[in-house]
Amino acid sequence: MLLASAAWWFGILYLAFPYVTNGSSESQAGPVGAVIGNDVILPCYLKPIPDNIIVEWTRSDQTSGKVHLFKDGQDSDGDQLPDYRGRTSLFNDQLINGNVSLKLSKVTLSDAADYKCSIPNEEGQKSNIKLLVELAKDELDRVLKELEEARKKKEIIDNENDSLAAEIVDIKKAVLIKSVTKVMLIADLLLQNKSIDEEDHEKIRTAGTRHDQMTQLYQVLDKKGEKAKSAFHMILKEQEPDVLKLDAASTWSRGQITGVIIAVIVAVLTASAVV
Ligand SMILES: *[C@@H]1O[C@H](CO)[C@@H](O)[C@H](O)[C@H]1NC(C)=O
Ligand SMILES: *[C@@H]1O[C@H](CO)[C@@H](O)[C@H](O)[C@H]1NC(C)=O
Ligand SMILES: *[C@@H]1O[C@H](CO)[C@@H](O)[C@H](O)[C@H]1NC(C)=O
Repeated sequence: MLLASAAWWFGILYLAFPYVTNGSSESQAGPVGAVIGNDVILPCYLKPIPDNIIVEWTRSDQTSGKVHLFKDGQDSDGDQLPDYRGRTSLFNDQLINGNVSLKLSKVTLSDAADYKCSIPNEEGQKSNIKLLVELAKDELDRVLKELEEARKKKEIIDNENDSLAAEIVDIKKAVLIKSVTKVMLIADLLLQNKSIDEEDHEKIRTAGTRHDQMTQLYQVLDKKGEKAKSAFHMILKEQEPDVLKLDAASTWSRGQITGVIIAVIVAVLTASAVV
C-alpha cells in the first residue's frame, strides 16, 4: 500500500506543467514522462462541461477503440482498447470544472504514444498530449548489468569455442595434411589475419611439396596455439568445407560434445540478449 502510493507520487512528480486552455481552442500539452510500472496522470482541461457530457480519450495510432470513454455519467468500457482495461480513470469530482485528466496506472512501455482527450461533437474541445515512458534508473542499471554479464559469458564461450575448433583441427590433423589443397591461400589468409607472422608464412611457402607445406603449417599452428587453430578452422570452413567433413575419428570426443552444448547455450544467450 505504502509502495503503491509512493509509486503514485513518483508518477505525479513526472508530470509536466499542464497547459491550461481558455476553453476555446485546441491545445497541445506536455509531454508527460512516466516510469514503467508507475501511475501517471495525463492532464487535460476543457471548457466546464455539463453533466451529460461524453469525454473521450484516444491514441493517435489507434483508430478504433478508446483509451477511456465517459458517457451517461459513467465510465463505459464497451469500446475500450484491451490494453487499457482496468487501468484508466477520470477524476469524477473534477469533471464539472472541465478537468478531464486521465489517471493511467501500471504504465508499460507500449503506453508511450500521442493521446487526445476530447468532447466529441463539440468544436475545439480537444487537447493533445504525448506520453513518454522510461525505465527507472535502478531498472536501467539492472538491464545494463545483465547485458554486461551476457557479454562476459559470450566471451567465455567464444574462448571455449576456440578450444573446440582447435581440438577439431588436432583430431583431423592426418586427414587435413593429406587433403587440403589451397595451402598457400590459407597461409596468406592466416597472415593477413595476423594469426601467423611473416617468418612462419615464409617457412610454409618454402617447405616444398603441398604435403610438406601442410606439415609445416601444422607446426606453426601448434606453436601459435588455440586462437590460430581456430582461425585456421574458420578459414578452412570457407575455403574447403568438404575436407572438414572427411572423417578422422568415427566417435565424438568429449570436447566436441561439449561444443554442441556450448552452441545451444550461445543460441539461448543470444536470444535472451535480444529480448
Ligand atoms: C485536475 O485533477 C487532478 C486530479 O485530481 C489534479 O491533480 C489536478 O491538479 C487538477 N487540475 C486542476 C487545474 O485543478
Ligand atoms: C563456434 O565454432 C563453430 C565452429 O567453428 C562456429 O560455426 C560457430 O559460429 C562458433 N560460435 C561462436 C559463438 O563463435
Ligand atoms: C582472425 O580470424 C578469426 C576467424 O575468422 C577471427 O575470430 C579473428 O578475430 C581474426 N583475427 C584478426 C586479428 O583479424
